[in-house]
Amino acid sequence: MAEIPKLHQEGYDRLTIGLHWATAVMVAIQFVIGKTAPLLPRGALRVDIWSIHVVQGFVLSAVVLAGVFWRRMHRRTAPTERGVFRALATATHHMLEALLIMIVALGILDVFAHAFPLFNVVSFPRLGDDQFMRHVNAWHEVAANILIVVALGHAGAALLHHYVLRDNILTRMWPGPGERESGHNSTS
Ligand code: HEM
Ligand code: HEM
Repeated sequence: MAEIPKLHQEGYDRLTIGLHWATAVMVAIQFVIGKTAPLLPRGALRVDIWSIHVVQGFVLSAVVLAGVFWRRMHRRTAPTERGVFRALATATHHMLEALLIMIVALGILDVFAHAFPLFNVVSFPRLGDDQFMRHVNAWHEVAANILIVVALGHAGAALLHHYVLRDNILTRMWPGPGERESGHNSTS
């Protein structure tokens, strides 16, 4: 089998990798809950499932914030693409980041707009009226749908690199021997 060419020997650092995959997994779970919970009959189970969405949503908000700061503070690894593809990859990463920030902000706003009854034990204070709630909820959903489409394109590009172009773009975002030490700034 032909060896996958090493575009850059060094991978991303452990924190970048951890934050990236934690974000991806949580976004997928949030999306599945967001699309299936409305199908359940109203009642305790539905509130509990939405409560999981909200609790995980707050964890995801912290992970997104940490990722944004970490990526700004550390240039983790040199870009591999050139020209238009590099611009496309960078634009996609920025778009993913912007959508994540938008979704968590709208999600948190949605919690207050709903006066959300967490596990039917404690309710958040209400913000705004019913119309405000419907708007916030609608924008949260629109942003979620766009994020999933962009993330699927992004994941497709990563798989294309791995299986068709056969470079190490995907493996450098994976924990392992190539992983670099956290806090180490690149020269790129
Ligand atoms: C990328 C992450 C997320 C995705 C993909 C996502 C997706 C969704 C979707 C599809 C809905 C259903 C909208 C509808 O049918 O009207 C929803 C509702 C909601 N989301 Fe999220 N969400 C995310 C993050 C968050 C965060 C961070 C929070 C708050 C901390 C949050 C709080 C809520 C609330 C309160 C609702 C409404 C629940 C209800 O109707 O009772 N979401 N979300
Ligand atoms: C909701 C899901 C996802 C989000 C929000 C997301 C977000 C991001 C962001 C913001 C970056 C830029 C990181 C940086 O510059 O430090 C990135 C890089 C990367 N992502 Fe994702 N990602 C997601 C899912 C995936 C999936 C499913 C895969 C693989 C199938 C993947 C593979 C990669 C790879 C390989 C890189 C590094 C690209 C490079 O080195 O140029 N991502 N991702």
